[in-house]
Amino acid sequence: MSASDLERELADLKQTAIAAIATAADLDRLEQLRVQFLGKKGQLSQVLRGMGKLSTDERPRVGARANDVKQALQTSLEGARNNLEAAAIAAQLASETLDVTLPGVGRPLGRKHPLNSTIDRMIEIFIGLGYTVAEGSEIETDYYNFEALNTPPDHPARDMQDTFYLPGGKLLRTHTSSVQIRYMERHAPPIRIAAPGRVYRRDTVDATHSAVFHQLEILSVEEGLSFTDLRGTIVEFLRQMFGTELEVRFRASYFPFTEPSAEVDVRWQGKWLEVLGCGMVDPNVLKAVGYDPERYTGFAAGFGVERFAMVLHRMDDIRRLYASDLRFLRQF
Ligand code: DAH
Repeated sequence: MSASDLERELADLKQTAIAAIATAADLDRLEQLRVQFLGKKGQLSQVLRGMGKLSTDERPRVGARANDVKQALQTSLEGARNNLEAAAIAAQLASETLDVTLPGVGRPLGRKHPLNSTIDRMIEIFIGLGYTVAEGSEIETDYYNFEALNTPPDHPARDMQDTFYLPGGKLLRTHTSSVQIRYMERHAPPIRIAAPGRVYRRDTVDATHSAVFHQLEILSVEEGLSFTDLRGTIVEFLRQMFGTELEVRFRASYFPFTEPSAEVDVRWQGKWLEVLGCGMVDPNVLKAVGYDPERYTGFAAGFGVERFAMVLHRMDDIRRLYASDLRFLRQF
């Protein structure tokens, strides 16, 4: 093959290669073309193999031409690669465009059940009065629910707190007073606790009674506590809970675990509504947990959470609190 033949071949090769590179649709195709034209067994190498037969003065000229072609193809490949890469990025950006002016996906926001918000509010007030929160379990033994609270098996007060008995002598606690015993067993005085929780009774359900309801217990034991402290604490609590307008009355009462005992009523819809029981902790209860009743005195109270929710939110029937009717619950 003559030098001019080779030069023509080089020129043709350059033309076809540049045309092919210009139409490459993606980077894979571009790589194929690079191998096809510039690879070791590519078309350019084949042409160069023909140079061996050229004379020594022709060879540099054709060699220089071949170099020009090689460089032209490399430049063309590089340009095409840059363009394809830029196009790929632009396409990705376009597909991921975010319209920040679109409205978001609305998710309905839950809210606290009025019973829980009432408990939270009550606890908040007692925390402000120096109490810490304690808890016990809903399944109790006869000892913690009754006996340690000065209520032996034959005690008539048990009639008012009939409950659900479980296999193995356990029962569902009838009040949060059991937490008093559990806490005192593990802590030395002075103590000041508020214990919220669910309690159970074999009660006939009506507008103000339920077989499952909630209480908040408070217990304070230290040296020198008197009924004045109890009264002051309750009155301050009710003042913070309801404001001063609500009429309150302390009424002498009886509980096996307190002496003296009282019930507290608030004036609600023209009637007195009992909202809590309270009293000075009976010395027998202190003895049962190993406290010295000669040295320590204490007061305790049990609040009916449902009753407070009723007064707070002007409800007519506690059964609404358990019905899970969103039309009702959304109001709080
Ligand atoms: N445990 C009582 C009940 O459920 C309420 C009660 C009364 C709790 C007097 C007390 C208390 O702590 O001192 O009826």
